[in-house]
Amino acid sequence: MLCLKYLFSKSILAIIKKKVVSLHNIPHVPVLYREVQEIFEHIEEGTIVDCTMGYAGHSTLILQSNTNIHLIGIDQDQTAIDFSTQRLEPFKDRVQIRKGRFSKMSLEVFEEENNIRGLLADIGVSSLQLDEKDRGFSFDSDNLDMRMDPLSELTAQTVVNTYSQKDLERILSEYGEVRNYKHIASEIISNRPFSSAKELSQCIRPFAPRGKKIHPSTLVFQAIRIEVNNELGELEGLLDSIEKSGLTQARIAIISFHSLEDRIVKQRFKKWSKSCICDDHAMRCTCGNDHSLGKMLSRKPYEAKNDEVKENIRSRSAKMRVFDLGI
Ligand SMILES: C[S@@+](CC[C@H](N)C(=O)[O-])C[C@H]1O[C@@H](n2cnc3c(N)ncnc32)[C@H](O)[C@@H]1O
Repeated sequence: MLCLKYLFSKSILAIIKKKVVSLHNIPHVPVLYREVQEIFEHIEEGTIVDCTMGYAGHSTLILQSNTNIHLIGIDQDQTAIDFSTQRLEPFKDRVQIRKGRFSKMSLEVFEEENNIRGLLADIGVSSLQLDEKDRGFSFDSDNLDMRMDPLSELTAQTVVNTYSQKDLERILSEYGEVRNYKHIASEIISNRPFSSAKELSQCIRPFAPRGKKIHPSTLVFQAIRIEVNNELGELEGLLDSIEKSGLTQARIAIISFHSLEDRIVKQRFKKWSKSCICDDHAMRCTCGNDHSLGKMLSRKPYEAKNDEVKENIRSRSAKMRVFDLGI
């Protein structure tokens, strides 16, 4: 079964490299696909922004079920843009595609579009980015790159080979929640420079945390990837731009795979729900008690059901939080 999966992903890569995109070979299965469709299905007109279009799995479902809406798809990865441009061609002028980081592109979109009714962000890496060896995300890659946008400046090689002990410790403990982060940071420093993910993975393997089901390098690689792509900064930037957008009547859905990201989304949605922003210790309200931007659709995040987890293991750690602006 594993072997078949491997051959399947190899053939998809070959197809994409040749730019002969067969739409039966979709390199990424969208998570929480039923829930995403459900939460947007009431939107009958206007525009929905997919901030992480990737391979257009969610975008396709939304365009199919909401037949009058327009969609703006954003991604920073040219390979994803090329694939999705073809995949979404049947929807013709209902679709606009933009390349760039969503923290910045969302600001532009909010300024230009006046009827945005929904926004989706499915934060993180796509299966293809993880599987494609020369992108350097996988443990056995001959590269050490990990950039989602290959034109951006910071690479995993720079992080691993030039960061100070203190900075390596910070990213390992904050972004990877690696228990023995000090030890691993000093192993990296004593054995560098590294030129491939394979070398790095072999060096840290004996010391990396041993999860029950995860590869020992997973958390260390995750931490480096988050740093390289400024993933938490991007998420904060997107939330800032939504907060300043002045959007009314828009449903915001954010899917995250990491507890730190989920916490950021949860706290921001909580803040947006609050009508009174006076200090918790204030004797009485002096702020006007009219600061709420809307409300959370539910307190608990949406999570994948068992049947989806069986079909798509990535969905196991996905959490989606939804906020209605303007209610
Ligand atoms: C998990 S995949 C999305 C998959 C997509 N929902 C689908 O159904 O095919 C995440 C995508 O978001 C993109 N991405 C991640 N962070 C980004 C950012 N800050 N700005 C723009 N695109 C980003 C990645 O390049 C990747 O293609």
